[in-house]
Amino acid sequence: MSPDQQPIIGESAAFLEILEEVSRAAVLNRPVLIVGERGTGKELIAERLHFLSTRWDQPLVKMNCAAISETLLESELFGHEAGAFTDAARRRQGRFELADGGTLFLDELATTSMNIQEKILRVIEYGQFERLGSSRTISVDVRVIGATNEDLPALAGKGRFRADLLDRLAFDVVTLPPLRERREDIMPLAEHFAIRMTRELGREIFPGFSSAARQLLLDHAWPGNIRELKNVVERAIYRHPDDDQPVGGIQFDPFDSPWRPSNKPQETIPTQPADTLPDDLRAYLDQVEKETVLKALDASNGNQAGAARALGLTYNQLRGIMRKHGIKSG
Ligand SMILES: Nc1ncnc2c1ncn2[C@@H]1O[C@H](COP(=O)(O)OP(=O)(O)OP(=O)(O)O)[C@@H](O)[C@H]1O
Ligand SMILES: [Mg+2]
Repeated sequence: MSPDQQPIIGESAAFLEILEEVSRAAVLNRPVLIVGERGTGKELIAERLHFLSTRWDQPLVKMNCAAISETLLESELFGHEAGAFTDAARRRQGRFELADGGTLFLDELATTSMNIQEKILRVIEYGQFERLGSSRTISVDVRVIGATNEDLPALAGKGRFRADLLDRLAFDVVTLPPLRERREDIMPLAEHFAIRMTRELGREIFPGFSSAARQLLLDHAWPGNIRELKNVVERAIYRHPDDDQPVGGIQFDPFDSPWRPSNKPQETIPTQPADTLPDDLRAYLDQVEKETVLKALDASNGNQAGAARALGLTYNQLRGIMRKHGIKSG
């Protein structure tokens, strides 16, 4: 394993199948497209594809296509001559040139313009391009690995992604399963990140997770996938007092706080017209109470602890009010 390679953790059948597919695809000199939700390990898999390929001792160059404007991206990819555009003071090599002989990882490929897609296609097909501001054709030998968390065939159907580029890239498509679809991988990954963080903090041993903590980790939906798991675990280790007790404090949302500023406008209680009085104050207040609780439950997606917090109630107080008004959970 090369020193800049990260260990890849996972033992679920779904994930092992992906690793096999990656090993097979790696040795072919063809483009590969990696598809997956955010945080599923697309970049890690791209690195694996490179280091298992015959190009492993050649450069692996990465470019996030979403981070910059179109002109800048074009010059980052293909390079430019001096004066090709404002700010282009000196001639500069692009990433395709830097990756010559090796691999170019194009992250967030779906965000590129049609114009850039056309140029990428030409490099994939003929290995040729021109620097911005130059008519001299440059030839390179670069293997392209693309990544996206979008549905490229759907984008191509809407005319927002070039179908011919998609065809070329889709020679091999590796689709990474989200973490919630491979729960067997949660604890091995969590322990791996926990041990690494323990070491980073200079502590002696990782005391393991408490059984309540394990259950929380296993039950969470992980919308941010492995990156989210890594953050949650590292935070839990970092906050854990350095002793022999198992790690128990799991916080999924670091912004979770009773003092969290809210963008919600101040609640407006449905009022009677100013000059009339409710003819039954108790019934009126009951109605307001019920509507307010329903609104809070709605805003917290049915999460009762969250709704209670938002209303300044304890969980049991909220449950009491829900019972009183016959509001069902979930
Ligand atoms: N199987 C794995 N084993 C160990 N670590 C992993 C694994 N998969 C992902 N990671 C780690 O999780 C984090 C996110 O992975 P990565 O950056 O590759 O995801 P991504 O799919 O590119 O995310 P995004 O779409 O947000 O860019 C990284 O720190 C990576 O090292
Ligand atoms: Mg990424």
